[in-house]
Order: sequence, then structure tokens, then C-alpha cells
Amino acid sequence: MNILAIESSCDETAAAVVRDGRQVLSNEVLSQADMHAIYGGVVPEIASRNHIKVVSRLAEEAVKKAGLEKSGLDAIAVTAAPGLIGALLVGVNFAKGAALALDIPLIPVHHVRGHIAANFIAFPELEPPFLCLAISGGNTAIVDVRDYTDMSILGSTHDDAAGECFDKAARVLGLPYPGGLPLQNLAEGGDDRAFDLPHAKIEGHPFDMSFSGLKTAVVNIVHTAEQRGDTLDRAGLAASFQRAVSEALVPRTMEAADMLGYGTVVVAGGVAANKRIRADFEAACKEKNKRLFVPPLKLCGDNAAMIGCQGYYEYLAGARAGQELNAYATMDIDNLTF
Ligand code: KG4
Repeated sequence: MNILAIESSCDETAAAVVRDGRQVLSNEVLSQADMHAIYGGVVPEIASRNHIKVVSRLAEEAVKKAGLEKSGLDAIAVTAAPGLIGALLVGVNFAKGAALALDIPLIPVHHVRGHIAANFIAFPELEPPFLCLAISGGNTAIVDVRDYTDMSILGSTHDDAAGECFDKAARVLGLPYPGGLPLQNLAEGGDDRAFDLPHAKIEGHPFDMSFSGLKTAVVNIVHTAEQRGDTLDRAGLAASFQRAVSEALVPRTMEAADMLGYGTVVVAGGVAANKRIRADFEAACKEKNKRLFVPPLKLCGDNAAMIGCQGYYEYLAGARAGQELNAYATMDIDNLTF
């Protein structure tokens, strides 16, 4: 079964063709990051307008690179939630048009479920159940993945997502957007104990997280140094920040896996590219004798192959949408209401 998948939830326009869930025939991604960099973050209106400009061409290219004709497509999968509403609507409307024109089924996909599915593409042997930490620019959640389309959230952030926190800390340190990778590079060689940054705990919710206090602490340290004219140990601050984020994520995830008796831990989303977090997970899983799966860098960020993969499993579970399909800025991963 050949699925054309479309992803436009934030600042990447992406189209891919995926066969039978796990075989990626093509995977086209066009990032708009450069266009948003001068503003220090994604400008939703600019994102929507640029998705409109390229989505059709990108989809054509994905079909061509897959070595197919449009008649060789069996279904269209599209990210319909969560994300920037205007940006999502571009992909959803394109997908609706394509499904109507080709007279094939339309499958709505939850973006974070897609991030988790990136691991199915990278690791043919991986199958649910497992515990997954989904960490991206807009979402941070510890997810119990019982089956391909049966999952529930054990804990999530109460405020900023981990990626958002990386981007904001990077911005105050004078680094370009998106800030995750530049901050990671700055942290290399820095002393991760140079600063004692806050670790938030949410009373009564051991798996929930909060990153706004950490973000504010970094902002205050930078501003105080500027006001006093002090030389700031920027590499030390970046390294301490990464340690704080990792210490908020890794032990909680491991504890959740232990609680559910899972021997497999999966990490997904753009922040899964982070070297420090990957290394800490490797060490923790080795110590606890658990299998660890983290996608290759290419599949960590937003792409459409992961949407085509998840779309296949949603299709098998009976998911279909009609021309009334809408896009949703927010939606729970465990309660799809397309
Ligand atoms: O998954 P993604 O491409 O988009 C969303 O679905 O949100 O994630 C983007 C996020 C950005 O916040 C970016 O700064 C972060 O992933 N990121 C990283 C790294 N590479 C990307 N964060 C930390 N370390 C990295 N190496």
C-alpha cells in the first residue's frame, strides 16, 4: 500500500511516499527555518504562506522520486493536529483536494504519533509495547505506547516544551533560531556543573515536567551578567542548561518504564537529536538493562515519512476522514477527535 503523506504543522513543508508503513520510497523536506531566523522564532503567518507556495510542488516531487505515477497511490495521510493552525490547514486542504481528485482514502494523523513512528522506519525490529519520551519544539510527553494506535500520556510539560526551552535559552545566549543545535555546540567543552539551575517537580504528578523556571533562570543569569558587565561563562551555562533538561527528562522516563515493566525505551522528536540527552539515555538504559531506540538525526525533526508510517497503522485501525476534515491546534495523543 503506497501512502502519500503531507506534513505542514510548523515551519517544515514535507511530502513523502511510504509503502506498507515502513518502506520510505521518498522523503522531501523543505525547511523555512532561514525565513524565521531573523524573528528569533516561527512567525505563523509566514509559515502558512510559504507552505502554500511549495506544498503542491513538493508532493509532485515525492511521487516522482518514489518512481510512481499518481495512479499508484492508495491513500493520502496528513498531519491534522497539533500544530500552528494556519500551517496545518494548508496541508489538510491540499490532502483533501488530492484525496478527492484521486478518489482514494484520506487519513488524519496526530503529529506526535508521527514522531513516535519515525522509530518504526529506522528500526524494523521495533514493535509496541514500549515507553516513549516525545520531545519536540511544541510537545514534551512521556507516552505509554501499548500498540500502534493505542497510547496514553503518563506525564507532560505544564508549560514550555523542551525544544521551546532550548530555543529560548539559545536566543538569550545570542544564538540563532532554531537554537537546539547551536546551544549543543556551545555547550561542548563547557562545565555542566558551572551553574546550579532549577529542577521543577510537580506535586503529586511525578511524570509531569515544567521548563519555564529553567528558562527564566537562564534569562536572569544572562541579564544579570550583562548589567554588571561580568564576563559570562557561556559554554558553562549552555552545558549546565543541557544537564538540567536531561535530568528533567531521563530519570522520569526511566522510572515510568520501570513502573510499567517495559524493557524498551524509545525517544522521538526534534530534541531527540541532542547529544547530551542521547548519551544520558544510553547510560541509563545500559544500567537498567533496557533496549534504547533513538531515530537517526534525519528522522528526529519534522518530516512526512513518519506521517506516512503512522498513517498506515491508523489506516489499518480504520481511520478515515471525509472532506469535512478540519485541522486542530491542540489534540490529545490518546483521544483523537478528527
Ligand atoms: O520535532 P521538531 O523538528 O519540530 C516540532 O515538531 O516541534 O523539533 C524542533 C525542535 C526545536 O526546538 C529545535 O531547537 C530542537 O528541536 N532541536 C534540538 C536539537 N536539534 C533540534 N534541541 C536540542 N539539541 C539538538 N541537537
